[in-house]
Amino acid sequence: MTVTIVGSQFGDEGKGGAVDLYGEAADIVVRYQGGDNAGHTVVHEGEEYKLSLLPSGVVRGKECIIGNGCVVNPETLFDELDTLRERGLDPSVRVAERAHVIFPYHRVIDGIEEDDKDEKGDLTVGTTGRGIGPTYEDKAGRRGIRVGELLDSELLRSRLEYVVPQKRALVEDVFGVEAGSEFDVDRLFETYRDYGERLAEEGMTVDCGTYLQRRIDDGDEVMFEGAQGTLIDIDHGTYPYVTSSNPTAGAASVGSGLGPTVVGRGDVIGVVKAYLTRVGTGPLPTELGGVEGQTPGYGDGTADEEEEELATYIRDEGGEYGTVTGRPRRVGWLDMPILRHAARASGFTGIVVGHIDVLAGLDEVRVGHSYEVDGEEVTTVPPITEAWSRCTVNYRRFDGWSDVDWSAVARDGYEAIPENARTYLEYVQEELDTPIYAVGVGPGREDTVVLEDPFDGSTE
Ligand code: GDP
Ligand code: IMO
Ligand code: MG
Repeated sequence: MTVTIVGSQFGDEGKGGAVDLYGEAADIVVRYQGGDNAGHTVVHEGEEYKLSLLPSGVVRGKECIIGNGCVVNPETLFDELDTLRERGLDPSVRVAERAHVIFPYHRVIDGIEEDDKDEKGDLTVGTTGRGIGPTYEDKAGRRGIRVGELLDSELLRSRLEYVVPQKRALVEDVFGVEAGSEFDVDRLFETYRDYGERLAEEGMTVDCGTYLQRRIDDGDEVMFEGAQGTLIDIDHGTYPYVTSSNPTAGAASVGSGLGPTVVGRGDVIGVVKAYLTRVGTGPLPTELGGVEGQTPGYGDGTADEEEEELATYIRDEGGEYGTVTGRPRRVGWLDMPILRHAARASGFTGIVVGHIDVLAGLDEVRVGHSYEVDGEEVTTVPPITEAWSRCTVNYRRFDGWSDVDWSAVARDGYEAIPENARTYLEYVQEELDTPIYAVGVGPGREDTVVLEDPFDGSTE
């Protein structure tokens, strides 16, 4: 059986925590898209692990695979593995031979394109600078280099000799930037051949789909760990302010080599943060306050003081600063059109709602129930981002809940959650017509009220 964990908003919903929570019963944890742009946090017994490329299953000592739908920076791969080993873990990680490789020139081009967009208009995405977009571009352009090809030095050299001069010309002739050592074929060849040798020596590559199917046939449990979130999905997100892959559940099939019927037989769990955060640019209709350089039009002196205070309160209470980049995250109220869109696009069978502890202490909690776009009420996300950026929000207001001993709540179960918070949770569950599987009341594995375990049915 499989269980798929998907971000239902803009990323950073707590997917790492959800994978860790339900991971015990999994035999294998698989990432199916994205690369080291992710930042997944797992907190257990006071230890915090931040993973950007490795599946969060490593913390529980699970066998992990980076699937063919991912883009892989070998430097990050080995750095993260070495760091975890230094911390006493014994990670078992393999990489799909069909996954694409991020080269240093991809990262340089990522930065150059962002600078260019910044100079020429409002198309800057605020990427993580990890070369994600340029690597997926090369994959779609059929000039990318795959992990399995690093192990064949002759093939690697011929691929680099084809592609690197194109990249050099792009940087120098189109963008007018001098190309550095990141565009030196000999240097790239030596470094990446060495990575290939290490991958081979450590037996770290795998034919992902064939291997996973065999394990499923043997009765093993597979967990898919989505990165990013539905609203930054390249198809279903707020294009062009998106990442370059599909975090939605369909990609668990394409990005691993298992059929959609296999993935669809298991649960698909949407991870929901009880409010919104966004890192990077693009619209955010329920945004509170704003963040210089990310919130469109922010900084003209017209900000609402009360909203600014609320945003700062939530940001600080929730520690809403990027795991990878350290950037302050933009903050907003929960947005139901976003969740309806996410639940449909991935076919959620359950949701995990976290961070209700962060909102404790507020007098009132608001939720964007629907939008008004061009005089019409809309209950899901408009396909054209420009229309979405113009919408006004119809809010539902909920009485706030006070701060309580959340560890005691996690111990005592659902009924111990403050009543007003339960009203809020039940509204979300009813609107989505999707059951709540767990409620997060703090960052640790223990800080969770578990109602359903997708691997073995009800626990309460
Ligand atoms: P991911 O990218 O979806 O894995 O999420 P991140 O790790 O980037 O961000 C989620 C942050 O919230 C992490 O620091 C988690 O430890 C923390 N977290 C997760 N669930 C909860 C929760 O229910 N309450 C609180 N206070 N923090 C949480
Ligand atoms: P996790 O897995 C939040 C955002 C970036 C930027 C846009 C494109 O931790 O939820 P990219 O470098 O991917 O080309 O950037 O996507 N972004 C994320 N935001 N969480 C993430 O991952 C993200 N990964 C990318 O901020 O706006
Ligand atoms: Mg994150």
